[in-house]
Amino acid sequence: NYYAILMAGGVGSRFWPVSTQDFPKQFHDMLGTGDTLIQKTFNRLANLIPSENIFILTNERYNDLVFEQLPNVTKRQVVLEPAMRNTAPCILYASLKIQKENPDAVMIVAPSDHWIENEQAFTDNVQQAFNFCSEHNALMTLGIQPMFPNTGYGYIEFNKSDSKTIKSVNQFREKPDYETAKQFIDQGNFLWNAGIFMWSVKTVVEVFKNNQPNLFALFEKGIDVYNTDFEDDFVRDNYGKADNISVDYAIMETSKNVYVIPATFDWNDLGTWGSLYDKLDKDNANNAIVNARTLAEDATGNMIRTKDDKVVVVDGLKDYIIVDKDEVLLIFPKAKEQDIKQTLQKVKDKF
Ligand code: GDD
Ligand code: MG
Repeated sequence: NYYAILMAGGVGSRFWPVSTQDFPKQFHDMLGTGDTLIQKTFNRLANLIPSENIFILTNERYNDLVFEQLPNVTKRQVVLEPAMRNTAPCILYASLKIQKENPDAVMIVAPSDHWIENEQAFTDNVQQAFNFCSEHNALMTLGIQPMFPNTGYGYIEFNKSDSKTIKSVNQFREKPDYETAKQFIDQGNFLWNAGIFMWSVKTVVEVFKNNQPNLFALFEKGIDVYNTDFEDDFVRDNYGKADNISVDYAIMETSKNVYVIPATFDWNDLGTWGSLYDKLDKDNANNAIVNARTLAEDATGNMIRTKDDKVVVVDGLKDYIIVDKDEVLLIFPKAKEQDIKQTLQKVKDKF
């Protein structure tokens, strides 16, 4: 009865110029392991879940990329979205499809762009969560020990007096402002949301029905045609009408039955060049250099990813991101990496 929803519809704009709207980061081998991020995620899930029960949710624009990179998946497993509406609509839609196929399904929802060390610990944590939500009406999360007041994550306040591994959650708070995040961390009983969720399909559908009635009504209308030849027409006519909202705001913040397992694996949300820098091997001067034909002197702390047919010389540079890709060369201070998204917009407007 195990199922997975692999979310692969984001654009990853802070990884520009490697990640682009036509070819986002999840379809790149960002870590240099030989596998793209979506392939790594698929294989990780396939340790737990029959591979035919792993559904890939993505924008219709990435259809070809998915089949190229995951040649063994069938059309049934690839759920295409005709519009970008963030994660709540696609999760509800896919859950209704899965429920129609198997009302007893227990599922995991996972992003396609994370780095996870220690796959065995990941598998154990998820198995534990599966066991729990098979028996309880629970929305399960995996919590990461927070390191600094990152405002890009969700925060999970667990019940301090709960000494069990699976802890009940007092509040889920998506992307708080800096001051709030700082308070949370000082309090000590907050974890970062890893963005990975587990629940029974019955539970999640019920929660959407109660907490997001408009969204639920929209997708419930199509229930008769899901998993049939008439589905595409329905989705094309209706998907764009869905609210643009993430699963975190839509159901996690608004539900009472949330639980967390503190993760026992190392986790990194590969969201920015700096997060990739952290994970890559460094030279003696702490530069992460992807192209072997790079000469770096008097250079420290740089993230340098260029094409390997090019000799690159860097001298006198500290804490910069240097990335070249086809017609774009980016030279950007690491400290401002979050701004790459806005810079990309300026570039689009200007050129
Ligand atoms: N199919 C589909 N459709 N996937 C999408 C869409 C969409 O419209 N939008 C985003 N995704 C995918 C992304 O590719 C990514 O794998 C995942 O959904 C999460 O989206 P992000 O946009 O990366 O979310 P976030 O990083 O801002 O926040 C989430 O993840 C954090 C941890 O990485 C939240 O769950 C936070 O609470 C969490 O801390
Ligand atoms: Mg993310």
